[in-house]
Amino acid sequence: MLNDKAVAAEEPFNKFLVWYSGAQTDRRRQTYKGNLLVSSVFGLVRKVMSAIFPWANLFRPDVATLATIGLNGQPSARSVLFTGITEGGFAFYTDYDSDKGKELDLNLSAVMLFYWAVPPRQVRIDGKVHKLSREDAGRYWESRSRANQLAAAAVIQSSIISGREEHLEKVRQLEQLYRGKPIPCPDSWGGYSLVPEKIEFWEGKIDWLHDRERYLLNDGNWTKIKLAP
Ligand SMILES: Cc1cc2nc3c(=O)[nH]c(=O)nc-3n(C[C@H](O)[C@H](O)[C@H](O)COP(=O)(O)O)c2cc1C
Repeated sequence: MLNDKAVAAEEPFNKFLVWYSGAQTDRRRQTYKGNLLVSSVFGLVRKVMSAIFPWANLFRPDVATLATIGLNGQPSARSVLFTGITEGGFAFYTDYDSDKGKELDLNLSAVMLFYWAVPPRQVRIDGKVHKLSREDAGRYWESRSRANQLAAAAVIQSSIISGREEHLEKVRQLEQLYRGKPIPCPDSWGGYSLVPEKIEFWEGKIDWLHDRERYLLNDGNWTKIKLAP
C-alpha cells in the first residue's frame, strides 16, 4: 500500500488514550468554557438527569458497543463498560455464562466500538479476547456497589426469567445469605481483554472531509494507513 507507514507499538494506544481523555465530561466542559450559558445548561441537564435516573450512565465516554459473532453466525452486539487497557488490550467485565460469554468461548474475535459526540469521534477496535485473571475479577468486583454485586450474582446474565419479581426475590435470598458479609465474586463473572489487531480512528470535520486512519498489526509491527472517510 502506498501510504502504509510503520509506527511505534504504543502509538495507536496513546492516540486512543488522548481521545478517551478528551471525551471525559470534565474536558468536555472545558470545550464549553468560552460559553458560560452552554456550560451552565449542560451542567444543569446533567444534574437533573442524574437525579431522575441515578443508575443511568449519562455522559460516560466508557460505554462501548461490543460486537461478537453469534452462535448462529449472525453479528451480535451490546453495550459494555470499558474499564481500561489491561494485559495489552481493552478490558470489560461480564458474566462468562451470558450469551456474549458463550459466543466468545466459541470465537474469540470481537469488535469494540466507541463513539463520542463532542468532538465527533469514533474508534473501532478489532481483535481477539482473552479472559483476565481471577484476581483481577475479584479486584473489579470489590470496586462495585453491593447493590450492583447482588443484582449480578443473583441471576445468570442472558438467562430467561419470569420477570423483575423473580430477580428481586433472588436478590433478597442472597441478601439474607450474606447479611453482614461481603458478596463473593461468582466464578462465572470476570473480565476480558480485547487485544487489538486493527484500530481505526475516525474524526468528523466541519467541511465533511473527515479524518480516518487505520492501524494494522502485522508480524508484531503496527503500520498506519489513511482511508477515505
Ligand atoms: C450503558 C450500558 C453499559 C453496560 N455495561 C455492561 C457491562 O460492562 N458488562 C455487561 O456484561 N453488560 C453490560 N451492559 C448490559 C449489556 O448491554 C447486555 O444487555 C448484557 O451484557 C447481556 O448481553 P448478551 O446477552 O449479549 O451477553 C450494559 C448496558 C448498557 C446499556
